[in-house]
Amino acid sequence: MLKTQIAVFVSGGGTNLQALLDARATGKLSAGEIVLVLSSRADAYALTRAEKAGVPTVVCSRKALGSQDAFENAINAALSAHNIDLIVLAGFMSILSKSFTDAWPERILNVHPALIPSFCGQGFYGLRVHEAALARGVKVTGATVHFVNEIPDGGRILLQKAVSIEDGDTPETLQRRVMEQAEWLLLPQAVQMVSETIAKEKVQ
Ligand code: GAR
Repeated sequence: MLKTQIAVFVSGGGTNLQALLDARATGKLSAGEIVLVLSSRADAYALTRAEKAGVPTVVCSRKALGSQDAFENAINAALSAHNIDLIVLAGFMSILSKSFTDAWPERILNVHPALIPSFCGQGFYGLRVHEAALARGVKVTGATVHFVNEIPDGGRILLQKAVSIEDGDTPETLQRRVMEQAEWLLLPQAVQMVSETIAKEKVQ
């Protein structure tokens, strides 16, 4: 079977990328092949993780490229060069335009560190999400893997998992628990699921 060709987009530490690379190593990503890691930042540790795993990398910085058009043209060139079928946003902190997301309907996945529709949308990313959950005093949070459309965190939900908030949690301890108990499990599972669907379409 032809494997789904996957690009993982990152901006930071890349622990979710690592979960995908580990899933690949243990055969849990059998329907897909991670063939490109694209970072919005040249100094992202995620790039080192990709290099250690032997996956080609490219840096596309909106700031360095000067405009959203130039940024997305650079992304498109990298995607075409690697015949990408599926994009996975794994801690990718740059915004993609509607024309970009429209060109990839149900072909872009994102992992969000809360139970959408809570603590999501504009301004909710990274530690801020956990700060907001603690400030609101919720007792349960979690993670969501969803398709990406033009609305921030607005696309169809694929998988969710709840995680308890404990007394004395800080944004950092909560972020770690949500990653360990939800994100690192859900993201490889969702990527395998969608890769299977795409791979089947490729043989038809
Ligand atoms: C993860 O918690 C991810 O869910 C979150 O950023 C972190 C990246 O960590 N993404 C968002 O907040 C997107 N709205 P990582 O670089 O270690 O995977």
